[in-house]
Amino acid sequence: MPTVDYLSIKSLSVNYLQRGKTVTALNSVDLALSHGKTGVIIGPSGCGKSTLFNVLAGLNTQYSGKVLIDDKIPRGGGETALILQDYGLLPWKTVWDNVTLGLQLRKKIPQEIQTQTETMLDKLGLLPLAKRYPAQLSGGQRQRVAIARALVLEPKLLLMDEPFSSLDALTREEIQDFLLEIWQETQLTILLITHNIEEAVFLGQRIFVMSPGPGQIIQVVENEMAGDYDLRGKVPFLEKCNFLRSFLHRREKYAAGV
Ligand SMILES: Nc1ncnc2c1ncn2[C@@H]1O[C@H](COP(=O)(O)OP(=O)(O)OP(=O)(O)O)[C@@H](O)[C@H]1O
Ligand SMILES: [Mg+2]
Repeated sequence: MPTVDYLSIKSLSVNYLQRGKTVTALNSVDLALSHGKTGVIIGPSGCGKSTLFNVLAGLNTQYSGKVLIDDKIPRGGGETALILQDYGLLPWKTVWDNVTLGLQLRKKIPQEIQTQTETMLDKLGLLPLAKRYPAQLSGGQRQRVAIARALVLEPKLLLMDEPFSSLDALTREEIQDFLLEIWQETQLTILLITHNIEEAVFLGQRIFVMSPGPGQIIQVVENEMAGDYDLRGKVPFLEKCNFLRSFLHRREKYAAGV
């Protein structure tokens, strides 16, 4: 019988070998997300969030448990796009060349590459910057190039690993709004990692809280209000942030034996 969840993770465990010793990065993680929904993962440094994304992106196949994206084992490429913690742009390539790279690897015809890239850059307000190199861009512009590069491949699942962490507060909110626009337009399924509680409540319809390593999902917070541009500052939003904050603090104190 097919699973109803677009993303379905059951009992996922990942071990790494470090100097002959086995380190457990993920310990029996369960996670589910429906098609077209947004999910956010929040958890302390080193709890295995990037490890989880590497599995979903098909970059790590050394795991135990069951992982399905649209009922298929993740193999990378194609329908899943991963935006890395440091944006993953190639510094020696221009904005235009960074965005076309994936299309070229897919051996698309030049006319198609030209049209799709132009449309995407235009949509993200990046056309005037097409000839610049990443070092000549602001953090927010770099982030938009990374998003353009992922979206031009028309993925069905967008994985973003702490995408906005190096941006100032205002730019960060602008890009969060922009991500909502893209989500509403494309009906993508999005899973995003963050350390920021407000960001989690603004963007995540389902929030997965992870324990310190070896990582497990210790709480799933349903948050259907995410997706509303005017959410920030509203009482239910602030209440949800407070709930999440006190939950995380309680966990920290508990972990420290306080
Ligand atoms: N290739 C690797 N080999 C050995 N150990 C690794 C490897 N990659 C990650 N680890 C270890 O696995 C654990 C989880 O790492 P991971 O990068 O997934 O954490 P994270 O939650 O993304 O952390 P951060 O919030 O700092 O980005 C850490 O203890 C890390 O040291
Ligand atoms: Mg990480």
